[in-house]
This record gives sequence, C-alpha cells and structure tokens, in this order.
Amino acid sequence: MKVNRLFGGCLPAVYLSRGLQTKLRGNPYDKIEEKVIKKATLFLYLLKKEGVVINMCGIVGYIGTQDVKDILLNGLEKLEYRGYDSAGIAVVNENGVHIFKDKGRIAHLRTVVDETVLSTVGIGHTRWATHGAPNQRNSHPHQSSTGRFTIVHNGVIENELELRQEFLPNYKFISDTDTEVIAALIEHFVLEKEDVELAIRHVMSLLHGSYALGVIDAGNPDVLYAAKNKSPMLIGLGEGFNMIGSDAMAMLQCTNQFVEIEDEEFIKLTREGVTIYNLLGVPVKRSPFTAELDASDIEKGTYPHYMLKEIDEQPYVIRRIVEQYFEDGQIKMDQKIVDAVQSADRLYIIAAGTSMHAGFVGKQLFEQLAGIPTEVHISSEFVYNTPVISKNPLFIFISQSGETADSRAVLVKIKQLGYPSLTITNVPGSTLSREADHTLLLHAGPEIAVASTKAYTAQVAVQAVLAAKVAGKSDLDLSRELAIVANVMESITDHKEQYEEIAKEYLTQRNCFYIGRHVDYYVALEAALKLKEISYIQTEGFAAGELKHGTIALIEKGTPVIAIISQEAVNLNTRSNVKEVKARGANTVIISLRSLSSETDQIVIDDVHPLLTPLVTVVPTQLISYYAALQRDFDIDKPRNLAKSVTVE
Ligand code: AGP
Repeated sequence: MKVNRLFGGCLPAVYLSRGLQTKLRGNPYDKIEEKVIKKATLFLYLLKKEGVVINMCGIVGYIGTQDVKDILLNGLEKLEYRGYDSAGIAVVNENGVHIFKDKGRIAHLRTVVDETVLSTVGIGHTRWATHGAPNQRNSHPHQSSTGRFTIVHNGVIENELELRQEFLPNYKFISDTDTEVIAALIEHFVLEKEDVELAIRHVMSLLHGSYALGVIDAGNPDVLYAAKNKSPMLIGLGEGFNMIGSDAMAMLQCTNQFVEIEDEEFIKLTREGVTIYNLLGVPVKRSPFTAELDASDIEKGTYPHYMLKEIDEQPYVIRRIVEQYFEDGQIKMDQKIVDAVQSADRLYIIAAGTSMHAGFVGKQLFEQLAGIPTEVHISSEFVYNTPVISKNPLFIFISQSGETADSRAVLVKIKQLGYPSLTITNVPGSTLSREADHTLLLHAGPEIAVASTKAYTAQVAVQAVLAAKVAGKSDLDLSRELAIVANVMESITDHKEQYEEIAKEYLTQRNCFYIGRHVDYYVALEAALKLKEISYIQTEGFAAGELKHGTIALIEKGTPVIAIISQEAVNLNTRSNVKEVKARGANTVIISLRSLSSETDQIVIDDVHPLLTPLVTVVPTQLISYYAALQRDFDIDKPRNLAKSVTVE
C-alpha cells in the first residue's frame, strides 16, 4: 500500500481535444461563443459515454483547530501539477461562509484572500474548465441559492441537464457549471428530507458521472462532508483535525495517515473523527495506512524544478527497486506474475510516449534474457488496428500514471477477448492497476514534472527484474549490476555543468537529431521526445543506419546530431554514420560507454552491463533537454499543451 496509492490512484487532468482546449483557454469568457462551450460539454459527455474516465481539478478540505486558509492554499499548491486555470477556497466561521476565488494561479488567489477572516474549517479547489469558461464566476467553490451549502467538485456530471429539468426547473443558476447543480440539489433535498446526510446521499444516487465532493453546511460548521465516485480522493487523519484531498500530496503538510475512499461512498468529517458510509448510510470500516513518503518527497527543496530533482533521484530509485525486489540476492516477486509471463508464448507491451520507449527496452530484455518473443505497441494504435494475436499472449501495460486512456482502451478490449494482463505502474490504485490481472510497482516515488525521467528508468529496471526472474538461473547478477547502474547514474548527475555546456554549444538550431543503433536507437527515441517536449526544439530519434535512406537530406551546416553508442556490435557502424552527417555539416556529439569510447567523444560514461545501458545513457540526454529548456526560459515542469496523465483517448 504505500507511496504511490497516495498520489492518486490517479494523477489526472482532463484534456479536451486540442482545438477545444485552445478555444476555451485562449479566450476571455466574453469572447467564447456559447456553442463552443456546449460543444466542449458534449465532447466530454461523449468521452464519458465511451467509458473514458475523466478526472480533473484538485480538491482539499480541512476541519481542525488551526486557521485553515494557509492549509488550503498550501494544499492547492501541491495540486498545481494537475493543471488548472482558476482556484478558490471557502472557509466558515461564526460570521458565515467566506468565499475567495478567481481565475489564475494560486499565487494570485493568495492576494484575493482576506487575511483577517479566521476559520478552522474550509474547502479549496483548483479548476480546469470544462463546464463554462475559466473565470471568477465559474470558479469553485459554488453555493446553493440560500448560501447554506458550499461545495467543491472534481469530475463531470453527465446528467446535469436532466437533473436541472426534473428537480430545479425554476432555479436561478449563477455559474455555467455542473457543480452548482449539485449544490442546488443538496439544498432541494434537505428541504424535502430534513436531514443533510440523507439528502447528500440521495443526491449521490441521482448523479451520473464522476465526482469527488467537499461540502460545507453553514448550518453546521463543525462538520465537513465529502463524497466520491470515479474521481480520486483520500481522507487524511490527524490529532484534532481531519482532511480530504485529491491526493496525499495535498495533505502531507499536516499528516501522513490516510484512508482510501471507494466509489459511491459518503464521508462525514469532524475534528474528532471520520465516518465512511455507503450509499445506503451503512458505516464502512476501513483501516488507515501510513504514507511512506514525507513532505520533502513532493517538495522541490533547493531544486529550481521538479524535473531536475527527479533526474537526480534516479540512483535512489534504482536502489529502492533493488530493495523492493531482492532478498539475499534473489529476486522476490509474486509467483503468479512469474507464471503468467512464463506461460505466455508472446508478450504484447502496450504503452504510450516515454513508457512505450521503456517498453522497447523491455522487449530487448524479455527476448534476450527470457527468450520470449515480445512485441511493443503504441496503445492508441492497437485498439483500432489490432494485430494477429498469438495463442497464449500476455499483455503488459506500462504506464507511470496508470491512467492513460489510450492504454486503458486496449486493456478493456483485451479483457473482453479474455486475455491475461499485467500492469507495470507507479500508481497502485490507478485504473490500469485495478483493472489488470496483476500489477508490478515502479517504486519511483511521485513524479511531478510532466517530462518523465525517473519513471522511465524505473520502468526499464522493473522489466529487467521481471525478465531475469522469468529467465530463472542465469549468469546475470542483477542486484549487483543495478547497484553499479545507480553509481554510474550518480557519476553523471554529479557533473551537470557538462550537459549545460553541451546544450548551450550545440542546441542552437530549431531542430536536432538523436541517433543510435540496437538498444541505443530506443534511447534515441526517448531522448528526442524529452528534448522536444520541454525545449520545443524539433527533434527526431533515428536508427543511425536509416538516416542515409532519406532523412540525411535534412542535415545541413550546424544541424546538431547526438549519437549514442553503448553496444560493441554497432560501435563502428554508428561512428560511420556520425562521420556521414559530419561530412554534411552536422555538429555532432557522441555519448559513449568508456570501453567503446574514442578520445574525441564529448560524453563518456562508465560501463554497465550491456543489457542495462539504457538506464545510464538516457541520463545525459535528460540533462541536455533540461538545460536546453532552461536556457530558453520555458516552463520546464509544465510544458505547453501537455498533461502529466492523458486521460482522454
Ligand atoms: C513523457 O515525458 C510524457 N509525459 C508522456 O510521453 C508519457 O510518458 C505518456 O503520456 C504516457 O504516460 P503514462 O506513463 O502515465 O501512461
């Protein structure tokens, strides 16, 4: 149970189609045509109809003894990574409920909050606009018409129109949000049922869609209510206080004791305790668990960016993987997983982006170590262009977040076909983890930067452990080899100036190439993705020998070409390819292993086991990307147009 179930079950953000996103984000509300908003709403509805789980926004709530404003604002800051365009808090005291909210960042919200208002109960929200434009009016919290109920909501209510028509035909709504319908319904049913808890549970039973809710009742400010269905939420426990949050990170400032919430559960929080109920009002018992991470895991500390911190964490992640998966030098792993892999006649790795690149390295490992034929598929392609599947396949889903909709669509499909599945993820409570037959965890700790770094190396390392376990006895002493990898990673991250210089000297053009052969080609793909996604330099990862079949036409004076050389069998071939591009004016950089290096190579890395070289050759490329983006002054942790987890197909 540990670290990763805390940050999320999901690290989600909802992303509309790029076009709609641009329209919604790029325009002040007044300029957005109503039909665009309607179209966005319909689009979300269709996504839901197709079974795509949509999560967005962030929630935090607190009831205790300390002034709540900073607790909420600090908690919301920890949820910023999810992406948002507006934020707000509501606090309640003897003078009633006070709401502070606006479009823009948390830093701006801090300037809006009235410091003189004191309160020990409150809810907060970061909003990523879906129903209605990002503006003050649509920002959460929202209230019922009398102001008695104030709520924050993460999710999408699909039947809000029907609910408006059936129960609230004459209601005067202030916002365009589906959330306000929930607040209005609660008040409506409180009048009818004369019992707040009953009313909220009744409203829950009427809602179709996803929600994580925090509710304040001005009539009873010593209670905080919460409810959950499909959107992520955790309870945080403390001495004299209790909390809710979209993930543990929002609450770690106050506690490391958490309780999970299942779908369709209703929660009553007071200062003294928390009770979870099912929809029928029957109390549910659930044990708390202790977070294995502390606030420093999710703080940048002295780092200017999460990405740099996460690059630096890689040696520790590799050591943690060894700790988790080895005992007395032997691999310890659920035998059911080992059996599932051993009995497969072919492995199908399904993943997207960086995780897919880790899957390519995994293919090499499964084939070389365990002798099992392995295919790697882009998840978004597999569903609609399904290849012929072998007799006894095993599907391996690789996903940092465990929430990627493209991969989930494949999982749904292969489950319908009756095939077994394994998810390799950083997030145990995640959708892919819950829905697959088996899960292997990455133990990488929270990865906050959108650009994935430590999750990639953890994905490669965990696949190596699995492949070695399935292979049984072999000459490879994996725990020792991984320990060497961790040390070599450290020797790379200890000399960052070198990569800063390379980024400055070589990445001066609007394009760049990474080339490599064999497993270095897979690392070239990942290196190219990393560089393009944060520095916006158009970069291609290429099989070095393939350049001359067309792409070499793009090489001109000054084009940066970075070659990766870690495999003896292709050392000379790749070097020939470097000469070819150099002769055509390219500015070349070579990253090589020491035993294969030549005097002129710019980056030389100490040797590791030949099957594990991607774990170390990727690190300089991560640092080069980081410094290229830094030199361009881009938002490194939150690059434009990207989400940490892509929860729509
Ligand atoms: C990589 O830096 C990106 N963030 C992206 O390619 C990512 O790896 C991809 O979206 C898959 O995400 P997942 O691992 O959470 O499934």
